[in-house]
Amino acid sequence: MFPPAFLWGAATSAHQVEGHNIHSDWWAWEASGKVKERSGAACEHYERFREDFALAQQLGHNAHRFSIEWSRIEPEPGRWDEGAIAHYQEVIQALRERALEPVVTLFHFTSPQWFSEQGGWRHPQAIERFSRYVERVLEAIGSSVRYWVTFNEPMIYVYQGYIAGVWPPGQRSWTAAFRIFERLLHAHTVAYHLIHSRLDHSARKPVVGVAKHMVIFNSCNPRSWKDRFARWMRHRCFNGVVASAFDRGHLLPRFWLAAKRAGYRRYLDFIGLNYYTRDFVHFNGWTGGKVFGEVCSLAHHRDTGPRNSLGWEVYPEGIYESLRQLTRFGLPILITENGVCTNDDGQRVQFIHDHLTQVSRAMSEGVPVFGYLHWSLLDNYEWHEGFAPRFGLAEVDYATQERRVRPSARYLAAIAKTRQMVAMSGVPP
Ligand code: FCB
Repeated sequence: MFPPAFLWGAATSAHQVEGHNIHSDWWAWEASGKVKERSGAACEHYERFREDFALAQQLGHNAHRFSIEWSRIEPEPGRWDEGAIAHYQEVIQALRERALEPVVTLFHFTSPQWFSEQGGWRHPQAIERFSRYVERVLEAIGSSVRYWVTFNEPMIYVYQGYIAGVWPPGQRSWTAAFRIFERLLHAHTVAYHLIHSRLDHSARKPVVGVAKHMVIFNSCNPRSWKDRFARWMRHRCFNGVVASAFDRGHLLPRFWLAAKRAGYRRYLDFIGLNYYTRDFVHFNGWTGGKVFGEVCSLAHHRDTGPRNSLGWEVYPEGIYESLRQLTRFGLPILITENGVCTNDDGQRVQFIHDHLTQVSRAMSEGVPVFGYLHWSLLDNYEWHEGFAPRFGLAEVDYATQERRVRPSARYLAAIAKTRQMVAMSGVPP
């Protein structure tokens, strides 16, 4: 049984659904031919948000996660676009009118192009610039929002943009990655303070978190101690250290000692969990980034589950394991993303059933989960993978922008309505 106040809903991010985010670094990245497909009009959600929220409401949602597009609010340094600010005020109002609790993400992978051109997070004034944007957002919508996610998946952002180089700014440097990660951490603590100092006295006392992508890591060959070492390194660093760093506001133990002496503080009120899959890791070497091992092909493993259309393994126990791991923070947990891209909606029904069964198992053991936000409300632009992966509870026909609710959406609605697991066969088509 899920509790009455449980948050049920879906998540989106600005660049993936809004369309025509022409001032963002992703738009420039797409225009320079770095990805196979451009986001273009995406789902035209910038215009159609009311229709989309009505759909969420019909599906029994009571919450919705979305992100504010910084490049719309501040298209040029220090120039605030009042139209864009008013737009997000309308978005919040439209959510409230439909009894959908807003969960607002401040940074979901995209930056204004001017920010990136001037060095992005490496620039000495990066934190100041980000804080200015956060302050402007707080002024505009602060008092109407309770749930804040400062950064979406900081580690994925750093990995894709600074190690793999497949997202802007397209770098491949562990040193740069490390520095950027520290910057994001710092930016998070500043945003955390700003939100609390501006809003603690408002009627909706804010709660602030980060959306942490957790991956379950297994070793490719459990009999090899080197593979076990690589798995341990990857797990500790990708999952454990990152979450602790955001909780404590710093990465290195020496800062931790200093912070402890100065009066230990925390920078998370809740943890957002984004969970998708499990990876198998094998040993790759002792130097530099190699210590984190390399992901081996699932083809070598007989005991793995089905894959989604991007080839990621579907491993429902992983959401339970991730939730258990996060309990050590003693913080409430919101599932900020969980979903599957597939052309077979029956697979999505099964996915929702299996993952929510694992969530409810964790909750029955006392894990304090207070909501489940499915990724995603709509099919959308999946970054460098383009429009092919279909993650939506509603299908989007990109030629007509028509939305078609999928049976899996009704299945999730049935669970949300009855607040308990429902047999998959009972789903109306
Ligand atoms: C997560 C991202 C989200 C979406 C899903 C599939 O890592 O936060 O934007 O791309 O994966």
